[in-house]
Amino acid sequence: MRFANMGQDCESCETAEQSVGLSETNDTEEIFMKVLIVGSGGREHAIAWKVAQSPKVDKIYCAPGNAGIAEYAECVDIKAMEFEKLAAFAKEQAVDLTVIGMDDPLVGGVVDVFEAQGLRVFGPRKNAAILEGSKAFSKDLMKKYHIPTAAYENFTDAQAALDYLKTAKFPIVLKADGLALGKGVLICNTLKEAEAGVRQIMTDKKFGDAGNCMVIEEFMTGREVSVLSYVDGKTIKPMTSAQDHKRAGDGDTGLNTGGMGTFSPSPFYTEEVDAYCRKYIYQPTVDAMAAEGRPFKGIIFFGLMLTADGPKVLEYNARFGDPEAQVVLPRMKTDIIDVFEACIDGTLDQVDLEFEDNAAVCVVLASEGYPVSYEKGYPIKGLDSFKDKKGYYVFHAGTAKSGDDIVTNGGRVLGVTATGANLREARKNAYEAASWISFENKFCRSDIGKAIDEAEG
Ligand code: AMP
Ligand code: GLY
Repeated sequence: MRFANMGQDCESCETAEQSVGLSETNDTEEIFMKVLIVGSGGREHAIAWKVAQSPKVDKIYCAPGNAGIAEYAECVDIKAMEFEKLAAFAKEQAVDLTVIGMDDPLVGGVVDVFEAQGLRVFGPRKNAAILEGSKAFSKDLMKKYHIPTAAYENFTDAQAALDYLKTAKFPIVLKADGLALGKGVLICNTLKEAEAGVRQIMTDKKFGDAGNCMVIEEFMTGREVSVLSYVDGKTIKPMTSAQDHKRAGDGDTGLNTGGMGTFSPSPFYTEEVDAYCRKYIYQPTVDAMAAEGRPFKGIIFFGLMLTADGPKVLEYNARFGDPEAQVVLPRMKTDIIDVFEACIDGTLDQVDLEFEDNAAVCVVLASEGYPVSYEKGYPIKGLDSFKDKKGYYVFHAGTAKSGDDIVTNGGRVLGVTATGANLREARKNAYEAASWISFENKFCRSDIGKAIDEAEG
């Protein structure tokens, strides 16, 4: 990115350029793009960082952004669900490409609003984002096209769900149909728990309208792997694999969170597993969406369970994972702008998608009490330690600027990522870097990447 043209408002851009080693201005490159990123978390920070490395990019905006993203982008005070305002801003500023990071706007149809106004945008339309937006839709799609997943039934009536449970095997999994911040999945060990779960989802509407419909599915066991992929409507290019740690506490205890840390690649995602998934899961999903008249362009994130009967789909997401993006993007070699453009233009088959032959680990630094209740507003110290350190990254998830300080402003505060020659080295580096940061009520899991030991013995 050419920081010289970033404008007055981005005081720290020079520092950002130094700290991440952005590419020098390329005199032969004649493209000067303006890019708008929609979102405000660690995922969007990782996307902004990666976009900033493209020599084609001249200026980045982020709506609404956060204190870390402000190093690379001019943050704009428009919320992700304000579609018309976002599109008007993109028009006014002559933005060349908008990238949607979050699920809510995608499922709500932000891409359709942009396209209707002739604006270029990366992400699935509303009729394709339903792959994430409705679990009942995605289960029916998988059944119809024979894509391996857990056996299930969909329900729109609480009594019918309760009757079904009487004959079910336990444990069993209940899922609210719609978006529920990753919290709409209940694993129930007994009939009593499951009955209470159905009432929470369908009668008490604990997850709001997301619980108008629900899926009840077979409980599967195995290793979980996240595979994010770029899709152009017909071609799919999977990225390197990753694994998330969803529970708040060490040893996978405590409540489900948005994700407490990730590592990439997964040692369990072998070439054989990859070949199987490409043949029976990835391409069939893309073909199924096209056959349904819902061509998917953007990111498909496959949440997979490697069961004894082979890999099966746990869930689909229609955007980068958070914090999966924080380990996958630092390993990506290809210019992300070329990939985004190819997805929009339907030319992804011509892109050579490459990743470094290394590993990355991301440790999320959260506020004590997350995901239930936590305090905000504490100054964060140690962010400067990341400057000029190659292979170390601090992605902001919930931070804000307060005077001269950067303060905590969310449950997940920062994602600290480090790379290494292998997973062990990356993990050692990530935990070392996590110790450079301090703030009141800081907490993180101490076992991110434990699976590395289990894989390597
Ligand atoms: P989802 O949002 O559908 O990925 O579910 C959240 C988490 O619940 C997953 O990451 C799994 O750990 C767990 N989960 C979801 N579905 C199942 C299933 N059928 N069997 C076992 N665990 C599941
Ligand atoms: N880390 C899981 C997600 O982004 O849904």
